Amino acid sequence: MLKKVYIETYGCQMNVADSEVVVSILSDHGFEHTSSIEDAGLILINTCSIRENAEQRIWGRLRAIGHFKRKNGDLVIGLIGCMAERLKEQVIEKEHLVDLVAGPDSYRELPLLVAEAHEGHKAVNVLLSREETYADISPVRMDSNGVSSFVSIMRGCNNMCAYCVVPYVRGAERSRDPGSVLNEIRILKEKGYREVTLLGQNVDSYLWKEDGRATGFPELLEKAAMIDPIMRIRFSTSHPKDISDDLLYTIARHGNICRHIHLPAQSGSSRILKLMNREYTREWYMERVSAIKRIIPGCAISTDMIAGFCTETEEDHKESLSLMEWAGFDFAYMFKYSERPGTKAARRYRDDVEDEVKTRRLNEIIALQNRMSARSKKLDIGQVYEVLVEGRSKRSAEFLSGRNSQNKVVVFPGNGQKPGEYVNVMIERCTSATLIGTIFVH
Ligand code: 5AD
Ligand code: SF4
Repeated sequence: MLKKVYIETYGCQMNVADSEVVVSILSDHGFEHTSSIEDAGLILINTCSIRENAEQRIWGRLRAIGHFKRKNGDLVIGLIGCMAERLKEQVIEKEHLVDLVAGPDSYRELPLLVAEAHEGHKAVNVLLSREETYADISPVRMDSNGVSSFVSIMRGCNNMCAYCVVPYVRGAERSRDPGSVLNEIRILKEKGYREVTLLGQNVDSYLWKEDGRATGFPELLEKAAMIDPIMRIRFSTSHPKDISDDLLYTIARHGNICRHIHLPAQSGSSRILKLMNREYTREWYMERVSAIKRIIPGCAISTDMIAGFCTETEEDHKESLSLMEWAGFDFAYMFKYSERPGTKAARRYRDDVEDEVKTRRLNEIIALQNRMSARSKKLDIGQVYEVLVEGRSKRSAEFLSGRNSQNKVVVFPGNGQKPGEYVNVMIERCTSATLIGTIFVH
């Protein structure tokens, strides 16, 4: 019974990639992955700490799965990932909901920790590492559509954004050996995958040094693109202070590097950006967006915005709105500022924007983005896009669903195409989330 592992993943794509590493490590030690929580002898929850409500949600979930424990005394429940790293032993003590705690750099220890927990000992490992990249582990792809997958190229983060808990829970930045990255992409291709997303907290600062030679992100990306033109390459996340023209020209040279850049702005006010320790100004951000539009015509740009950071005035907020309007983002993730214990902002600044004000500002940001996302989709009507088919559309069995290079979801009536095939689709209409079209034959 213990040998079946069920894993639930919260948070970012990096966590999704980590869960695949975790299952791979456990498979090498006799565990088998199950997608049914009832069958599991080991339940792992891979957690996120980015905002307080992410953690609240996970506590709720842990209480809900407590009843499995009452039914089966042998069951081991483990909390892993960012929240495990942040709260350490406290997690075990609080309400006795979990038996095991493992941070993002201690997954190789999991088989041992599970054995300890099974014997009734407190099993905790939250050591962070300067080297661990899990480069030699072949991730077990779960819940995959068999078409697109994530490949992590680095771990940790050295940027000290004042609001952000990531450097504390994921440790210092380290890059993964490019040979192992490229090899993983080749293996995915052999298995029929047609799209990979290279993942890192700040991919632009990827750096591998070997025998006196340095490989940066543009070179890694180019090598990834050259494996096979049928493989689409995406990447996330870029940092406005580090995204270089060299990278943009690399993208422009390769049609299979997707025309989409996720470039979190966080705020449109230079004063707030300085307090956030983002190391760029509004003008710098705008210049980088202009460079993307100039060097890679047709490139989609998405962003992250935070409403109500410490000391944010109405004026600062208006600057965020005007930056968004100017950039015309295709898509955005938008959040209310949430103070995280231990961060620079928590130590030095007062979380002084009233919650109602944060909510109102966030709603204004969302309303503006909705208008711009709609505008961006309307502009796609009449265009023909190459779509990588991922599967059937959820809404209708006759429709297939996939994405264009710009990362927009496109659905169209299928004609026997299979997941993993490329199809040219003429866009005819759109909903708030989707482009709808028909197969285009010239
Ligand atoms: N409060 C609100 N949003 C945050 N983010 C990171 N930390 C916080 C925080 N403390 C957002 C940023 C980041 C995204 C992953 O989450 O916008 O880019
Ligand atoms: Fe990902 Fe950050 Fe959440 Fe960790 S805290 S899962 S790195 S978003």
